[in-house]
Amino acid sequence: MSFVHEQREPSRLRGARVLITGGLGFIGSNLAIRLVGEGAEVTLVDSMIPEYGGNLWNIEPVRDRVQINIADVRDEHAMKYLVQDRDYLFNLAGQTSHLDSMDHPFPDLDINAKAQLSILESCRRHNRHIKIVFAGTRQIYGKPRYLPVDEQHPLDPVDVNGINKLAGELYHQLYHRVYGIRTVMLRLTNTYGPRMRVLDARQTFLGIWIRQLLEGRPIGVYGDGRQVRDFNYVDDVVEAMLLAACSSEADGEVFNLGDAHPRSLQETAALLVRYHRGGTYQLVPFPPDRKAIDIGDYYGDFQKIGTRLGWKPTVSLHDGLERTVDYYAKHCERYWPSAVAA
Ligand SMILES: NC(=O)c1ccc[n+]([C@@H]2O[C@H](COP(=O)([O-])OP(=O)(O)OC[C@H]3O[C@@H](n4cnc5c(N)ncnc54)[C@H](O)[C@@H]3O)[C@@H](O)[C@H]2O)c1
Repeated sequence: MSFVHEQREPSRLRGARVLITGGLGFIGSNLAIRLVGEGAEVTLVDSMIPEYGGNLWNIEPVRDRVQINIADVRDEHAMKYLVQDRDYLFNLAGQTSHLDSMDHPFPDLDINAKAQLSILESCRRHNRHIKIVFAGTRQIYGKPRYLPVDEQHPLDPVDVNGINKLAGELYHQLYHRVYGIRTVMLRLTNTYGPRMRVLDARQTFLGIWIRQLLEGRPIGVYGDGRQVRDFNYVDDVVEAMLLAACSSEADGEVFNLGDAHPRSLQETAALLVRYHRGGTYQLVPFPPDRKAIDIGDYYGDFQKIGTRLGWKPTVSLHDGLERTVDYYAKHCERYWPSAVAA
């Protein structure tokens, strides 16, 4: 499709004024590094709440070439100014822990739902021409009724986080439909790679697995380890975000991301051990609070984004895990206290 290639010329983003909420987090920082490389003028908004994924080290390669604004997306006055004069908003700020959303549902509601509405209101009132890419999640489908899960699958989230992320996504859809604001909603699946939170399991189980591996502890795999997941390397997710941003065909659309080679958790743990050339994993009982909100097997159908925007994952789990483990072996002391880099 010549349209896709036309839209992704680097010049399209050169000089573009870009705001990334959650820009010091895992995906936001990888996106920021890529956008700086494409010549964009990048501003990052992040609250740096310690339990979340923000880390100043994440943007070390572009530290002097981005504007950093330590602000909370719940602050509507700050957001009102920050969205002005921007060409693009990559809206990634979020509370990502499913368990925390059950233990402390109200911050999740405020960040993942209410603040999303107020960001959109700021755009409606102060910058209707902005293009918004929203980081949604496959969590909103709940327990799959069929596999692979496509965008038509019923939405039936199993936890507070899923409900609030669904509300956040629906607000983005509504503001396109009613006000014509150009929004694109991506439903991300398990994303991994350099700069993810590995301190604990708040962001993804792969994060804590990598920490366990590098600390010489067994990787703890919950249950029988047979649950199936699909994984995307972060560079592929960043590419999907740029395609979504640069394509007018994406406006108002919802797209799943995903990978064509889903794996069981046990298989994934075994791969990690193999690539690290050491370590071990063990099956551990599912903690009851996690079991209660587990979605079982999941993998997504991502044909729609393939057909419409020409996206497909390009980094294999093999290469992605290797790059990720290498990154943390070098920089672990930036990600958890008392670690010593190789
Ligand atoms: N990583 C995944 O596997 C995955 C899967 C599905 C969806 N997502 C979505 O992608 C987005 C980015 O996730 P991530 O994996 O990079 O997580 P992350 O925790 O590393 O990034 C989120 C960032 O948002 C910031 N943030 C949180 N609350 C904020 C607030 N109130 N104001 C300003 N900043 C705030 C955090 O400090 C953090 O830096 C999230 O919205 C998440 O729901 C991620």
